[in-house]
Amino acid sequence: MQIAPSILNADLANLAAEVARVPSAELLHFDVMDNHFVPNMTLGLPVVESLMKHTDKPMDIHLMIEDADTWAPQYAEAGCYSVTFHVEAAKAPIRLARELRKLGSRAAMALKPATPIEPYADMLTELDMVLLMTVEPGFGGQKFLDLVLPKLRRTRELVKRTGQEIWIEVDGGISLETIERAADAGADVFVAGTAVYRADNPDEMVNALRAKATAVQH
Ligand code: DX5
Ligand code: ZN
Repeated sequence: MQIAPSILNADLANLAAEVARVPSAELLHFDVMDNHFVPNMTLGLPVVESLMKHTDKPMDIHLMIEDADTWAPQYAEAGCYSVTFHVEAAKAPIRLARELRKLGSRAAMALKPATPIEPYADMLTELDMVLLMTVEPGFGGQKFLDLVLPKLRRTRELVKRTGQEIWIEVDGGISLETIERAADAGADVFVAGTAVYRADNPDEMVNALRAKATAVQH
């Protein structure tokens, strides 16, 4: 069970300091938006590269951009630990996943809440992680969509059938109220933006979230 704080909800003018506030986090979730794939714009590769000089934490890059095929490999080349592209954006997801792995990064694929997992069952072995959005991508602070839970269970089943260790990450509306439901349905990596960065003590919240997720029996 791993917690990945999303810096989208942190003070973006103080990124290095904000990252230092979550020493217990396993991963750092970085949301890249281009105002085309989602109606919002955040930060891109130059900021990621600068931030990496201030932290040893593995970077979990979530690309909410249209031209994933072009951009995703550049994050892998920069040394990002995990690079996630959206299947709705990628023109050649298998080629892209292979390229990411070849460049030394974990390859991950994200699905919006209404995108089914079944068409991608046969390509799961190309991936190190599947990210299931539990809100519509674009903004932090939205309400967790319980309607994604059945898909999460089906994804866990499909992953089991591959016999490989493929992580399942959930992103959006994860809090002390919702994390157990997500863990119970099969998630093992949890992105939390608002819950962590709006907490009085972000690092304590990271540990509290992990404790709740870990307490759920699979
Ligand atoms: C939303 C982003 C999320 C977001 C999560 O499009 O992908 O990573 O920061 O924020 P919360 O935890 O507030 O829903
Ligand atoms: Zn995200």
